Amino acid sequence: MTQTHEEEILGKAYDARLMGRLLRYARPYWAQFALAGGLLCAITLLEQAGPAIVKVAIDRFLSKGRSQGLLSWAALYLACTLGAFGLQAWQSIQTAFLGQTILLDLRMQIFSHLLAQGLRFFDKNPVGRLMTRVIYDVETLDDFFSQGVVAVFNDFFTLASVTALLLWFDWRLGLAALAVLPLLSWATAAYRRFARQNYRQVRTRLARINAFLGENLSGMATIQAFLREGVNAGKMDALNAEYRDLLLRQIKINAFFLPLAEILSALAVFLVLTYGGWRLHTAGLSVGVIVASAMYVTHFFQPLRDLSDKYNVLQSSMASAERIFSLLDRTPEVLDPPSPRPLPRLQGRVAFEGVWFAYEGEDWVLKDLSFGLAPGERVAVVGPTGAGKTSLVSVLMRFYPYQKGRVSLDGVPLEELSRGDFRRQVSLVLQDPFLFSGSVLENVRLSNPRIPPSRVEEACRQVAADEFIRDLPGGYSSEIGERGGLLSVGQKQLLAFARALVFDPRLLILDEATANVDTATEERVQKALQTLLKGRSSITIAHRLSTVTGADRILVLQGGRLTQQGDHRSLMRQGGLYRSLVELQFKQVERA
Ligand SMILES: Nc1ncnc2c1ncn2[C@@H]1O[C@H](COP(=O)(O)OP(=O)(O)OP(=O)(O)O)[C@@H](O)[C@H]1O
Ligand SMILES: [Mg+2]
Repeated sequence: MTQTHEEEILGKAYDARLMGRLLRYARPYWAQFALAGGLLCAITLLEQAGPAIVKVAIDRFLSKGRSQGLLSWAALYLACTLGAFGLQAWQSIQTAFLGQTILLDLRMQIFSHLLAQGLRFFDKNPVGRLMTRVIYDVETLDDFFSQGVVAVFNDFFTLASVTALLLWFDWRLGLAALAVLPLLSWATAAYRRFARQNYRQVRTRLARINAFLGENLSGMATIQAFLREGVNAGKMDALNAEYRDLLLRQIKINAFFLPLAEILSALAVFLVLTYGGWRLHTAGLSVGVIVASAMYVTHFFQPLRDLSDKYNVLQSSMASAERIFSLLDRTPEVLDPPSPRPLPRLQGRVAFEGVWFAYEGEDWVLKDLSFGLAPGERVAVVGPTGAGKTSLVSVLMRFYPYQKGRVSLDGVPLEELSRGDFRRQVSLVLQDPFLFSGSVLENVRLSNPRIPPSRVEEACRQVAADEFIRDLPGGYSSEIGERGGLLSVGQKQLLAFARALVFDPRLLILDEATANVDTATEERVQKALQTLLKGRSSITIAHRLSTVTGADRILVLQGGRLTQQGDHRSLMRQGGLYRSLVELQFKQVERA
């Protein structure tokens, strides 16, 4: 629904603020724009030389019955036309190049902006909408830059130069031709009003169809299981019919307006011919001037013919620009301080002091959480589903800002550090590992060329991933498909594990890192971990409690609060949640 809502807010066709901001993107290329504009002027001038040449041909040759020398004027006419075509080709390429260059800049700006956003931003903005911004809205601006800016300039130039020529040839005749202008401006204003209203409705209906379609496609299983096909088809039918009717209305508006421009043009020609003809006798006006003026009048109406197209381009560009700029204006929620504290090699000391954290408002997910991690210490976090274990990691990684308390690394509050400085020294294995399309090798070292393949292989051996990688058809250079679709979940997790190790972190965070591998593999990984974790701090989150019994300290999280902490032995002695969880799992193992 938000999507529909957003599409409905359709701005004006011309908004000076948006226009100014859009043009700022063109500024670095002003020289190329000037070239495109210059080419257009040259084309227009060549085109307008035509009637002047015809005038000379009539007045100097035809009306006097002379033909000697006429050939060179005829050749000049041809040359002007050919020249205009040649320049036109150059100009088209030039403006298309400009448009695409600016779009590239804009797309990169949006993508970099997305990369800088905190994770809450992505919780709130569906992928579909963001994709629309980067692809569709940016593409819409192509017409604006490659046609709009230059075309509007050209239209003004054409109108001005034709007016000047008409008046220069014979000002009285010129004024007669321009007498249709008030009618024209009235018609244009009327058209704009109708087209604008209708255009807005068309966009709204289209957005509704999109939203409805999107919802249906993602909820197909539910629709089919509950036999909603008929009902939903009916709804779609209604939406579709409305959309069709509006489009038809748009066509009717155009069908009415476009002939109107032709009629007015004919009316102007009529005025020129009759008034000119009358003055031919009274004031001795030449035939050439009358013919040339009649020809110029049709030039005058040329820019007005594709007015509807230009209008649509402008309107949709403004709407797209509005949406793009509102995205670009969103400051990231988590920002680096202006002058971050330098962070040399991390000792691995972590402290949470009375930390409160909520994703939304006052829905506390972490409540007054305090704990410390000494350099080299191995801490495990356990607790029921939804207790806030992953959230704790998100806060520590600064994916989300926390609201109260203090989180520090080596004694420095997180907010005073540059995120890059500490994330570089921390490795994280997520509960839901993410792999990119590409080879095994690149996925482990994340395209960091400073990590040699031998180190990747070493890390994979240590986490017992080496075996399955060697079985892949291409070994380490096998492509693993988009999101690692060609691997099992357990295999993906092992790769994520290798990825964490290859970066030689000072602090290792494992969120359910071994949840999806079989017991034998897990045992091997655990063994590898024992040596690997030496000298590093680590936080391990696990549901399978057998994997955490060896930790230096175990934190028990319950409903966002730290309810127990200590090593396995002391927690077992204490009783409480930890012991009951251990006993429950132990019983399950016995039963199995
Ligand atoms: N991105 C999010 N936006 C809003 N609420 C969230 C978000 N992620 C988690 N939550 C909520 O925060 C609470 C804690 O979630 P969290 O993922 O930290 O639990 P967890 O302890 O890791 O659970 P599990 O063992 O199932 O992984 C849950 O109630 C969840 O609904
Ligand atoms: Mg979790």
